[in-house]
Amino acid sequence: MSEVRTTTAPTAVSSLGAREAFAPSFDESSLVRPAVASAENLVITASDGAELVHGVSVAVRPGEAVGIVGESGSGKTLTCRALLGILPAGLAVTGGAVTIDGQDVTHASEKQWRRLRGTHVAAVFQDPASYLHPAIPVGAQLEETLRITARAPRRQTRERARELLDDLGIRRVDLVLRQRVAQLSGGMLQRVLIAMALAADPAVLIADEATTALDVTVQAELLELLGRLRVERDLALILVSHDLAVVAQVCERVQVFRDGRVIEAGATSRVLRAPGHPYTRELLSAHAAYGLERYLA
Ligand SMILES: Nc1ncnc2c1ncn2[C@@H]1O[C@H](COP(=O)(O)OP(=O)(O)O)[C@@H](O)[C@H]1O
Ligand SMILES: [Mg+2]
Repeated sequence: MSEVRTTTAPTAVSSLGAREAFAPSFDESSLVRPAVASAENLVITASDGAELVHGVSVAVRPGEAVGIVGESGSGKTLTCRALLGILPAGLAVTGGAVTIDGQDVTHASEKQWRRLRGTHVAAVFQDPASYLHPAIPVGAQLEETLRITARAPRRQTRERARELLDDLGIRRVDLVLRQRVAQLSGGMLQRVLIAMALAADPAVLIADEATTALDVTVQAELLELLGRLRVERDLALILVSHDLAVVAQVCERVQVFRDGRVIEAGATSRVLRAPGHPYTRELLSAHAAYGLERYLA
């Protein structure tokens, strides 16, 4: 873990007099840890001038899970890609700012982004198989990530790969490491991709529809895993889904996207109990059948 993410407890004030002297200027916001990734009034525009994201703000702090929900095409993925410095060709950030670990990266070069991706901000997406080579055992691919992104010495990569998968609750780790894409289930492949994303111990993990294609049981296992990783690793999590129930299981805050804007944001329990926007109510009513209430604190 990098030093910037460590909070030190405020030094104890030894005498009462000092405490009183300190109290009037005490600012509670100093207890809030700074965001490790943020987009502020983010505008994303296509080369033909069409504006796709119209001033979205998202921020996540260490150990915090923020959910992004909204229908398909609402700008969730583009916002995430801007936070990863991987906007599709022809699209650009034309307004607002992107910050990673306190660094303004709005206009960072590809070279600068390469130093941040994986080590500060990492991501997993839908369809994990497409990110892996079909002919190479997944263990060798994970070792390669450990060597290149995490700069692990070659003689340590095997052991580090084992440890990582073990951490992710994978049983029979050695067997899994030897297998190829076609031999592994979708849930297992996504675990391998999560291991790769976490190889260099990033501060932020973005999971963009990462559990969408999986069956409900496997999806629930992965969400539980992400929830645990965030606590154990003090990981900041941005969880993107078109499905409110997914976000409700893991995130204490949620932002509702529609047409490239955040139309509602707040504590998940508040947004689910008392949605302020008709569109959020619509999203919620679509869920009534699944008993979303059980995710409320
Ligand atoms: N490469 C691209 N070129 C042009 N438009 C794009 C591109 N990628 C996404 N878009 C458009 O931007 C909008 C937001 O897309 P996206 O962020 O992928 O939505 P979501 O992830 O919420 O489904 C959509 O209208 C989509 O069609
Ligand atoms: Mg998307």
